[in-house]
Amino acid sequence: KKIISIIGARPQFIKHAPMQLELQKHFKALTLHTGQHFDSNMSAVFFDELNIPKPDFLLESAAGKPHGAQTGLMMIDIEQICLQEKPDALLLYGDTNSTLAGALVAAKMNIPQIHIEAGLRSYNREMPEEINRIISDEFAYLLFCPTDQAIHNLEKEGIKHDRIFKSGDVMCDILRLMESKIEPYNGAPYYFVTIHRPYNTDDLDRMRVILKTLNELDKKVIFSIHPRTLNILKANAFDLKSYSNIEFVPPSGYLDSISYQKNASCVITDSGGIQKEAYMLKKKCITIRKETEWVETLENGWNTLVFDDVTRIPEVLQRDLGQHNPNLYGNGHAAKEIVEIIKKYI
Ligand code: UD1
Ligand code: UDP
Repeated sequence: KKIISIIGARPQFIKHAPMQLELQKHFKALTLHTGQHFDSNMSAVFFDELNIPKPDFLLESAAGKPHGAQTGLMMIDIEQICLQEKPDALLLYGDTNSTLAGALVAAKMNIPQIHIEAGLRSYNREMPEEINRIISDEFAYLLFCPTDQAIHNLEKEGIKHDRIFKSGDVMCDILRLMESKIEPYNGAPYYFVTIHRPYNTDDLDRMRVILKTLNELDKKVIFSIHPRTLNILKANAFDLKSYSNIEFVPPSGYLDSISYQKNASCVITDSGGIQKEAYMLKKKCITIRKETEWVETLENGWNTLVFDDVTRIPEVLQRDLGQHNPNLYGNGHAAKEIVEIIKKYI
């Protein structure tokens, strides 16, 4: 049987690494890269570092476009490839516009859709990801939920059938595989920061407050800067050099990203994946968002949301942490378990 996995954005390459390893043992496992992320440090670096086979199909038309054009252009190409390849299923990850394009094509062509990281909700429909998740879950044939909360969220929307599975999280698989390669660090203490959500980056007043707060912290800040964020700061004449406490570094590979997290005094982010990684690495996280899909991380102070009160960050940094659940996101074998189930249905 033939399965085409659709990937396009940084977190999807990382999620795909453990899945492709398992998929290719049992299926003709093809990969379609939508080209949504295209800089080498946002895309190629992960294929090299995580030994992901080169994509069988690489689209080029949709990168950097507004949502409608991006999704539509991807759909045109995905549909064409599906007509030609006649896959037995399309496999999708998470909640990006690449996910949405794949979900709509699968639904229209009656191709079974497999959704990895199903059931996540922020209950904030201003987030493009929330729309993408709702659509993907609504039309998915097999839904793999990483948490009990995700299953519960689906039930609340009336999505309740026997093809919904609690599977653990494939990001735990790849983290457990790579964690042992993290080198010990003896340098100066620092906070690790990533920010790329539009409600932070596109609001220049917010960005000013965030950067000022980070610049005044008691330890140095290493800020891995997403191209979206860099483009906006540059276009609006932010003088990055004036933030003397912040070292802006280009997007890094995966091992460097988890190393930065593990060796940091605290992680400050608005990323979805990094909230989980910080938790799995037993690192305190501060999330610059109003809400999170990964609500379990909030327990016992491991993760704290700040949004209108960004200036509270120094106070949150001082708080104590409670109990930690090392298996919150599974046992590191989610991909194998997921593929065993896929084999029964596809
Ligand atoms: C996308 C996802 C988001 C995910 C994030 C992961 C959607 C709606 N959003 O957001 O859920 O958390 O990826 O990182 O799918 N750009 C470059 N080079 C690149 C990639 C992007 O310059 O390699 C630029 C684009 O041209 C664009 C901007 O960054 O102007 C935003 O890229 P886009 O893929 O549209 O959304 P993200 O903010 O990356
Ligand atoms: N990441 C990376 N390099 C970086 C920043 C993040 O490899 O410079 C990894 C991070 O470790 C995690 C994933 O990218 O595995 C998270 O992706 P991102 O924050 O772009 O998207 P989100 O998870 O918010 O959708």
